[in-house]
Amino acid sequence: MKIVITKDHKESCRKAADIIIDVVNSNPNATLGLATGGTAEQVYDELTESFKQKKVSFKNVKTINLDEYVGLSPDHEQSYQYFMNKFLFSRVDIDKNNTFVPAGNKNPEEELIAFQTMLNQHPRDFQLLGIGVNGHIAFNEPAGELRTKAHIVDISQSTITANARYFDKREDVPKQAFTQGMGDVFSAKKIVLLASGAEKADAVKALILGDIVNTWKPCSFLKLHSDLTVFIDQELADLIGYEQV
Ligand code: F6R
Repeated sequence: MKIVITKDHKESCRKAADIIIDVVNSNPNATLGLATGGTAEQVYDELTESFKQKKVSFKNVKTINLDEYVGLSPDHEQSYQYFMNKFLFSRVDIDKNNTFVPAGNKNPEEELIAFQTMLNQHPRDFQLLGIGVNGHIAFNEPAGELRTKAHIVDISQSTITANARYFDKREDVPKQAFTQGMGDVFSAKKIVLLASGAEKADAVKALILGDIVNTWKPCSFLKLHSDLTVFIDQELADLIGYEQV
């Protein structure tokens, strides 16, 4: 695991975008695993900026997202499909037919099969990750055991609380989500994880300090990946007492 401390979250996002651009420029047909959420938003701003400056093209790139809320239609403002359209797909030259986010409003069992089939057929050259306040990765929530394949998960109360900031009311946060399994996430050749904000301190500690892996902190399993880069800003590094070695 490579840990990089940046000046601020904007710099983390710029550096993550540069890695994605390198992956795409060295393989214009690359498959990218993408994340949604506040942490990832600025990565897409940076990619859009680089696209406008003609430093990268997404014309032949394929993408698969980590997760989606069950029950939200793709045009719901809080659906992850809506997020991707807004922050990336509508701003660059990607072919929408080459992108996949599970559809929250289709038959869940059938959509789950479609999701896993996509994942099996399109190994990811790269995976972008955020991290949950409780240490979740995608929607792999802390539990006594973790799943390796795509599945439908009951979203934990702590994630519902954390994600309520994006909805009008806490009750509006969906109770279930489609998520890639830990094995799906791990199969990506290269992974970049970004974290910022005091509320992520415990999760980031579990990831970068010590050498314990624990299903109650799903992020800790990422220690085992052979090509993981973690970007944290100086403020978060200070908070958890991490110094660059
Ligand atoms: C999103 C995802 C989640 C988020 C995590 C952090 O596709 O898989 O694991 O990365 O919940 O969310 P933010 O960035 O909103 O704090």
